Amino acid sequence: MATHFYTASSLDGYLATPDNSLEWLFKQHFDMQGPMAYTEFIKRIGTLVMGRSTYQWLLDHSDVWEYAQPTWVFTHKELKHPTGADIRFVQGDIGAIFPRIQKAAGDKDIWIVGGGVLAVQFAQAGLLDELWVQFAPVTLGSGKPLFPREQQFELLETVRNQDFVCAHFKLAHQRTMH
Ligand SMILES: NC(=O)c1ccc[n+]([C@@H]2O[C@H](COP(=O)([O-])OP(=O)(O)OC[C@H]3O[C@@H](n4cnc5c(N)ncnc54)[C@H](OP(=O)(O)O)[C@@H]3O)[C@@H](O)[C@H]2O)c1
Repeated sequence: MATHFYTASSLDGYLATPDNSLEWLFKQHFDMQGPMAYTEFIKRIGTLVMGRSTYQWLLDHSDVWEYAQPTWVFTHKELKHPTGADIRFVQGDIGAIFPRIQKAAGDKDIWIVGGGVLAVQFAQAGLLDELWVQFAPVTLGSGKPLFPREQQFELLETVRNQDFVCAHFKLAHQRTMH
């Protein structure tokens, strides 16, 4: 059982523009069945975790909620809840909430969908194991950061998937919990 931050990023380390646009990302070509692609990755995932902006982006850009797994949304706000989706709104200390997230994952893994500030909170709590980044061949100059803190990683694998350089890392620390 492991916690993964799996995401695409610009070359200069942004997940989205300052106004949360992903237009730059969807201009690129990516083979969903190819190496390090989502289709294979999602099979190992028992529960998803995301921050309010990521959740809001998904609500604004999809007609249906596509995830069958329970989804934990970190927020201080009252947000819409798509019919039939298993959404659990939470806030505060990651370490305190993590046992519930872990239980929801069952014998599968946890996917931190984004953003980077939330992933950093998991790392700070010693609860992030792996980072997977698909780097798009574009710089943004500013935006929502991939991982806004100093952190040492160990590179496990790199591969090309069409326009993207995909890199898989593990965090260079011993896990402190579970
Ligand atoms: N490139 C990609 O593949 C990719 C992947 C994922 C996301 N994205 C995009 O990247 C952007 C990420 O946005 P973002 O950096 O602003 O991150 P975010 O994590 O999606 O949202 C940040 C918000 O999450 C809430 N939050 C975070 N930690 C919390 C905690 N411990 N307790 C309670 N609430 C907490 C806060 O919302 P409140 O204001 O409610 O307190 C905070 O303002 C989005 O536009 C998203 O769509 C891109």
